[in-house]
Amino acid sequence: MNKVLVTGGCGFIGFHMIKRLITNNYKVLNLDFLGYASSKKDLNFKKNYQFKKVDIKNFVKLKEVILDFSPDYILNFAAESHVDNSIVNANPFINSNIIGTFNLLQIAKNLPNTFKMFVHISTDEVFGSLSLNQKKKFSEKTPYDPSSPYSASKAASDHLVKAWGRTYNVPYIITNCSNNFGPRQFHEKLIPVIILSCINKRFIPVYGNGKNIRDWIFVEDHCNALESIILNGKVFSQYLIGARNTYSNIGLVKKICRMLDMIKPNEFGLKSYLDLVKFVKDRPGHDEKYSIDPSKIEKELKWKPRYNFESALKLTIKWYLNNLNYWN
Ligand SMILES: NC(=O)c1ccc[n+]([C@@H]2O[C@H](COP(=O)([O-])OP(=O)(O)OC[C@H]3O[C@@H](n4cnc5c(N)ncnc54)[C@H](O)[C@@H]3O)[C@@H](O)[C@H]2O)c1
Repeated sequence: MNKVLVTGGCGFIGFHMIKRLITNNYKVLNLDFLGYASSKKDLNFKKNYQFKKVDIKNFVKLKEVILDFSPDYILNFAAESHVDNSIVNANPFINSNIIGTFNLLQIAKNLPNTFKMFVHISTDEVFGSLSLNQKKKFSEKTPYDPSSPYSASKAASDHLVKAWGRTYNVPYIITNCSNNFGPRQFHEKLIPVIILSCINKRFIPVYGNGKNIRDWIFVEDHCNALESIILNGKVFSQYLIGARNTYSNIGLVKKICRMLDMIKPNEFGLKSYLDLVKFVKDRPGHDEKYSIDPSKIEKELKWKPRYNFESALKLTIKWYLNNLNYWN
């Protein structure tokens, strides 16, 4: 049975990955410092699962638990992940995302040679911005050009991973994924903000003119890609993960409002939830467009997203409607 150390498994994507790993018979140790966007809810597996509250910044403690578990794989999800927070205070981003990754690599470098792979879960935001009217997409060849403190910290950690691979032979794969959505995402992120604003009759804040474009992937498809990478990915390499769902922010808001108008017609006397849209001052350094070319993972690993965007969005909306107090 393969042993997988997951960092940040009480957050959004790590949680879904752990569920998948347990279902598919991996043995999992989840390390998380239980930050503001994390929860242990629904992580109550009886077999093959352990949780330890560990901060990846704490090298001594981290080393003790990793050596004791002796993982075959490390999946590094742990990170401060919200761009807006990084603009207000970059400190935790530098510490968790860069120093935390450095600590993990220092430990991974001395693991026995049965250790198979350090999978570093990163973002397409490391590539900076495409321009709105450009057809170009990000690929594994795109140079790094991060715009926010968040994306710069992730870019720095990606570089550390590559360097530890080249210098110390730590077997790694870096993945850069587009924007995730799905059940249980913390309510600071765009899709939960839209849904919860509608349900609570609050303004739906849209940055600038709403024309910025993001590329969306359902979280289950991201995790499915990560499992393909564990099973068949080529070590010392990088894969971009995306599902070819590019929408402008305002386009996405309209889509969700129209779906909600059908699923849960508002009781506030509004013609549509769209009446709640409010354009607000743009985010500084706001990237115009992200768009991923996932050809490499599609060809090499025969991976394809399984979920249709609209049905995954509906499923997500319904989850929030049924779990309004999840994060309380
Ligand atoms: N959400 C996205 O759209 C997206 C897209 C691409 C890549 N990613 C990357 O995927 C990873 C997970 O993202 P997410 O959306 O699940 O984030 P999240 O904020 O929901 O979860 C992050 C988890 O990491 C934990 N954590 C943070 N710092 C830690 C530390 N020092 N020690 C231990 N645990 C710590 C938090 O407590 C939290 O449980 C991140 O590395 C992020 O950069 C996210």
